[in-house]
Amino acid sequence: MKRLTTLKLLAVSCIAAFAFTSNASARTVDEIKADGKIIIATEGAYPPFNYFQGSKLTGFEVELGDAVAKKMGLKVEWKSLSFDALLAGLRQDRWDLVIASFGITEERAKAVTFTQPHYCSGGVIVSRDGSVKTAADLAGKVVAAQTGSTYFENVKKVPGVKEVKNYPQDTDARAALQNGRVDAWISDRFVVKTALESNPAGMKMGDFLFVERIASAIKKGNNTLGAAYDKALAEVMADGTYKALSEKYLKEDVRCK
Ligand code: ARG
Repeated sequence: MKRLTTLKLLAVSCIAAFAFTSNASARTVDEIKADGKIIIATEGAYPPFNYFQGSKLTGFEVELGDAVAKKMGLKVEWKSLSFDALLAGLRQDRWDLVIASFGITEERAKAVTFTQPHYCSGGVIVSRDGSVKTAADLAGKVVAAQTGSTYFENVKKVPGVKEVKNYPQDTDARAALQNGRVDAWISDRFVVKTALESNPAGMKMGDFLFVERIASAIKKGNNTLGAAYDKALAEVMADGTYKALSEKYLKEDVRCK
């Protein structure tokens, strides 16, 4: 009986040790290639970059991710999760890469490794009637932004803002503006342009609050994957694939200049 318990204990600690080591390192590009598919996580609620068309995950970043993976000789297994779960799951090796319009920031770069950027854009100020246009106009105003986003982080730094309300999805922050619950919404210029095309009521685009470079994220220090991804991205950018996708979703070439 005693021996059994000791054995059981040994087994449990072996499993625990294994689980710990397997969690400690991300899949290298060779391991991913041996498997044939890369696991990419995105949000799926951020048109035109990543969103659902019915039950189909699509958007500029989804098609771009597929194209980059194809250059690497890989298929993609897509996962969609809430925005604030994406980088945490990467750190736990639940997926190989995240593409969800993450701006490169110093803070994030402490926790994950960024690839080369796939577009340059920035956060713009949106109000119902155009009266809140500049950063100075935000003084005394209630502003909506997505939880965990650079929009939220940057608008919090604007002096005099009355309140910043955060919403799990960017589309909820937009709805808060259109429904009159807030005075302004901060989001990506192309997200706003796209929203204005389909549903312009109660939305006028103002100035940029800040600009940013958007990249994919991989597990910190997964350098073989980073190098292979960057090479494939450069090829997709050189052979016309990127330009076609960018014009399809964003009506212009949005690569960083
Ligand atoms: N560009 C912003 C950031 O870096 C927002 C990204 C939001 N992405 C999304 N899939 N909702 O935080």
